[in-house]
Amino acid sequence: MAKLSSFLLLGALSSLVAAAPAPAPTAAPNLEERATTCTFSGSGGASSASKSKTSCSTIVLSALAVPSGTTLDLTGLNEGTTVIFEGTTTFGYEEWAGPLVSVSGTDITVTQTTGAVLDGQGAKYWDGEGSNGGKTKPKFFYAHSMISSKIENLYILNPPVQVFSINTATDLTVSGVTIDATAGDTGDLGANTDGFDIGSSTGITITGANVYNQDDCVAINSGTSITFENGVCSGGHGLSIGSVGGRSDNTVETVLFYNSEIKNSQNGVRIKTISGDTGTVSGITYQDISLSGITDYGIVVNQAYDGTSGSPTNGVTISKFILENVTGTVESTATNILVECGSGSCTNWTWTGVSVTGGKTSSSCVNVPTSGGVSCSL
Ligand SMILES: *[C@@H]1O[C@H](CO)[C@@H](O)[C@H](O)[C@H]1NC(C)=O
Ligand SMILES: *[C@@H]1O[C@H](CO)[C@@H](O)[C@H](O)[C@H]1NC(C)=O
Repeated sequence: MAKLSSFLLLGALSSLVAAAPAPAPTAAPNLEERATTCTFSGSGGASSASKSKTSCSTIVLSALAVPSGTTLDLTGLNEGTTVIFEGTTTFGYEEWAGPLVSVSGTDITVTQTTGAVLDGQGAKYWDGEGSNGGKTKPKFFYAHSMISSKIENLYILNPPVQVFSINTATDLTVSGVTIDATAGDTGDLGANTDGFDIGSSTGITITGANVYNQDDCVAINSGTSITFENGVCSGGHGLSIGSVGGRSDNTVETVLFYNSEIKNSQNGVRIKTISGDTGTVSGITYQDISLSGITDYGIVVNQAYDGTSGSPTNGVTISKFILENVTGTVESTATNILVECGSGSCTNWTWTGVSVTGGKTSSSCVNVPTSGGVSCSL
């Protein structure tokens, strides 16, 4: 693959040299950083791509077979780089922590051609224990320190465990991504296949995602100005804030979950804060959310996470929690709404157009805000 890529590189460079003079007096152009498309493929492609990545303005990854135990390392890309997956990308089986793919840089676009698939071969790992035991499973995709960047249209098949880790990212838009871990439902073998885990990030928009998995569709541990819209979440644990607490960053502010469907999932709307810890959760809105086939809780606020159920703590405050037009049904064995707040830690909530039916009305709600239309029976 090294030969192929240097051939393409040379080809592109010579065509550049033959082209008309570059527009005048911007900074001296580095030819290697000019419009160069590099294509990498097969079993040597990942390593070649990692070595040559800063010589290419467009990186085409064609039917890559990423060797076991290695990361497709696309960190530190040049500003403005485009990465295009085509065909099926596979990742060799090995028990390790991953990630299988890692991308960082500014003004980066990661996309794929129609029909491309990133196949994590999860079935080889799934043992029902997820990240809590059994085989060590590689995380899939680190989108860490991606700045003013886009991830578009990726199709992630059979992730071993957690999929997207979005961390220290700023102004990142993720659009049209599908996560398909449906096969992990068989025998309850897939677990902890979180769709999007977000931490310490600002200005994140996830739009039009289809997530079929076995854990949180989205879990926001920390961050500011985060939107998830026009999405479908199925088979997992719902749209979640948290767990919040116990990390270096325990602030979640200004989050909007909008126009999305949560079906056949443990929970719909969920905020969980860790018992005994401190932090701030503020300005969380769920608007135009539909629920169906929920097996645990339609709406749940749990301030006793990792602690004693029924004994919520108040070190993490939850203010301005807005529900607007959150409707649907849960299974008859499930609970419609559960709110377990610490003493005085839940303030300025506003719920309108909330209707969750089909399940039990909880008798365990504590410290429920007394205004703003909040109630455990809506
Ligand atoms: C309520 O949300 C649903 C989506 O769950 C949407 O179809 C409907 O138009 C919304 N209703 C209003 C009044 O906005
Ligand atoms: C809660 O609302 C009250 C009255 O509207 C306001 O004075 C207070 O600043 C708000 N608190 C927060 C944390 O937003």
